[in-house]
Amino acid sequence: MMSANGTCRECKRCVSLLLPPPLQGSIGLRLGTLAGKICEMIIRQASPDDALRIATIHVEAWRVAYRGIVPDEYLRSLSVERRHLGWRQILEVAEESIWVAEDGERALGWISASRSRDVDAAQSTGEIWAIYVDPVCWGKGVGRALFAAAEQDLRRGGFTEATLWVLKDNERALRFYTSIGLVHDPCGDRVEHVGGKALVEVRLRKQLVQ
Ligand SMILES: CC(C)(COP(=O)(O)OP(=O)(O)OC[C@H]1O[C@@H](n2cnc3c(N)ncnc32)[C@H](O)[C@@H]1OP(=O)(O)O)[C@@H](O)C(=O)NCCC(=O)NCCS
Repeated sequence: MMSANGTCRECKRCVSLLLPPPLQGSIGLRLGTLAGKICEMIIRQASPDDALRIATIHVEAWRVAYRGIVPDEYLRSLSVERRHLGWRQILEVAEESIWVAEDGERALGWISASRSRDVDAAQSTGEIWAIYVDPVCWGKGVGRALFAAAEQDLRRGGFTEATLWVLKDNERALRFYTSIGLVHDPCGDRVEHVGGKALVEVRLRKQLVQ
């Protein structure tokens, strides 16, 4: 149940979403098409009870999105059980904001955001730490809705821009980020080693309009 300002009267944890076009006009929840059905989606803060679903989405999205980028052996070795434990601990003391999108039955994706962890970042720079959507829901607007919630959260925290790191070969994510207004930050790339393979990451940036 949403109040006029979009805050959930019951749990105080749902946020109003002033979504950017083409999703504008909806507050708190919006209609979307999932698996051929119309359903409602809300964005709310994650709780420790979400740990298993967050871990499952995390592992499944990694396995699909990073196939051919991250070594297969590493992707096979990912464990929902291990990530579940890790996520439970994170969610109990989370210093970052973690939001989940759900359709009333289960979480469809999640995003975490907070201050930037980059050493060259200004105080006013926030960061999208991670965003993962259940692969069966890709292309249905879940990522956009999550990103809009995280942007709103960062703005409320006083941040005037957001950055994030993405694998240079993650074409789908790069297309998604470009479509929602992020631009390449020519600060130089960085290299991360995953499963023994060197992977190039690029930083993207977006001004947060107040
Ligand atoms: C990247 C990611 C978060 C995007 O999430 P998503 O839910 O698929 O994103 P959206 O549906 O909001 O938008 C993606 C596409 O769907 C389109 N779309 C948006 N709303 C839509 C709707 N209601 N119906 C159909 N398509 C829609 C967008 O225009 C976009 O199209 P394009 O990619 O062809 O340009 C998701 O693919 C993912 O979890 N990837 C794996 C993890 C990952 O790479 N994370 C980023 C790490 S840095």
